[in-house]
Amino acid sequence: NFTPNAFVEEIVAEMKEKIGNDKVVLGLSGGVDSTVAAVLLNKAIGDNLYCIFVNNGLLRKNEFQSVLDQYKDMGLNVKGVDASQRFYDALAGLDDPEAKRKAIGNAFIEVFDDEAHLLTDVKYLGQGTIYPDVIESVSATGGPSATIKSHHNVGGLPDFMKLKIVEPLRMLFKDEVRRVGATLGIDPELLGRHPFPGPGLAIRILGDITPEKVAILQEVDAIFINGLKEHGLYDKVWQAGAILLPVNSVGVMGDERTYEKVVALRAVESTDGMTADWVHLPYEFLMKTSNEIINKVKGVNRVVYDISSKPPATIEWE
Ligand code: XMP
Repeated sequence: NFTPNAFVEEIVAEMKEKIGNDKVVLGLSGGVDSTVAAVLLNKAIGDNLYCIFVNNGLLRKNEFQSVLDQYKDMGLNVKGVDASQRFYDALAGLDDPEAKRKAIGNAFIEVFDDEAHLLTDVKYLGQGTIYPDVIESVSATGGPSATIKSHHNVGGLPDFMKLKIVEPLRMLFKDEVRRVGATLGIDPELLGRHPFPGPGLAIRILGDITPEKVAILQEVDAIFINGLKEHGLYDKVWQAGAILLPVNSVGVMGDERTYEKVVALRAVESTDGMTADWVHLPYEFLMKTSNEIINKVKGVNRVVYDISSKPPATIEWE
């Protein structure tokens, strides 16, 4: 029987003792784990915790600014770094999913390393690693820590990886992390967010990435996700998102023939992402969502719904 209050008290004391007056740098992802880890460390060492939140240009619509504001409101010592162009440059012309992941992982490491170098006398790297990550070594739900781990053998070891690691959540399961987050007063909406992959929208745009495609997918995704929230469906779904397909289809708008992009919507139920079932979203909701997307998002004339379960289909399309 896990008690969040006792855990917070214990881990904060432990971190205080361990870190003393030293500095810690931590990458925030906008996800639950890195956020809860940051709040705990902030409680222990205050502004000696330096958080970095990177915009890779592949986040959901408006997410960088709104999450950054939220972090600041929480009293975290956080720096937002807009590195979108660096990621787009690294991705230019790549269409293979693994090549895209690698480019994003490397770009993230470069950006984070540059930022870490701007700080002096940092001794520790804080991470939101949770117990299942410790076992699996690569997290299913991602975030900077997962990206770092899966790519740390590319080239030489960046300097920040030579730092000592502090992982306040390494003994906790996901539901325990959420309960700790609630005890700490973190916004329930943030704690209840769907998992979002580290490579972000890059693995939901099949084929090569351009800022224009990202902008289209952000609009589609926002309509879908906001719709789920408005219809009370968001919390019944484990993960949801939209996928921009690399095909055009013929449509008709007024008297005009169109030849535009197809998007797929995906919503799954799961407990850990290892297996997943597609969610039987109400037809009414699908109809409204499809109409809204086609009417509002320029460049999209067809919406399809993914009715594949995992296995054999994966949750992401790439
Ligand atoms: P799949 O597509 O493998 O996804 O069924 C299972 C879960 O993992 C997430 N995912 C990733 N997370 N980096 C991440 O941080 C990745 O490269 C990555 N690929 C998939 C996916 O969103 C789902 O939650």
